Amino acid sequence: MNNPDIPQKAPYPAEVEAGKSYWWCACGKSKTQPFCDGSHKGGPFTPVEFKATKSEKVWFCGCKHSAQKPLCDGSHKKL
Ligand code: FES
Ligand code: FES
Repeated sequence: MNNPDIPQKAPYPAEVEAGKSYWWCACGKSKTQPFCDGSHKGGPFTPVEFKATKSEKVWFCGCKHSAQKPLCDGSHKKL
């Protein structure tokens, strides 16, 4: 099984806007973390969509090992 790269063992806070979609980088290779920049091409990972239902601050997973992708669930503490 392929493991994603780990850009950081902490979440990325982000202000999201209601009604907008965000594409979270699942492979860990994007240069524009926590979002996909297309660097996953040719690999086993594809980005995960996050649809904002309200405008708020959320914490996107930076370690790429969350069980609740694309958001942080605390799994980074076990890496
Ligand atoms: Fe990582 Fe696209 S660059 S999923
Ligand atoms: Fe990945 Fe918290 S940063 S679970």
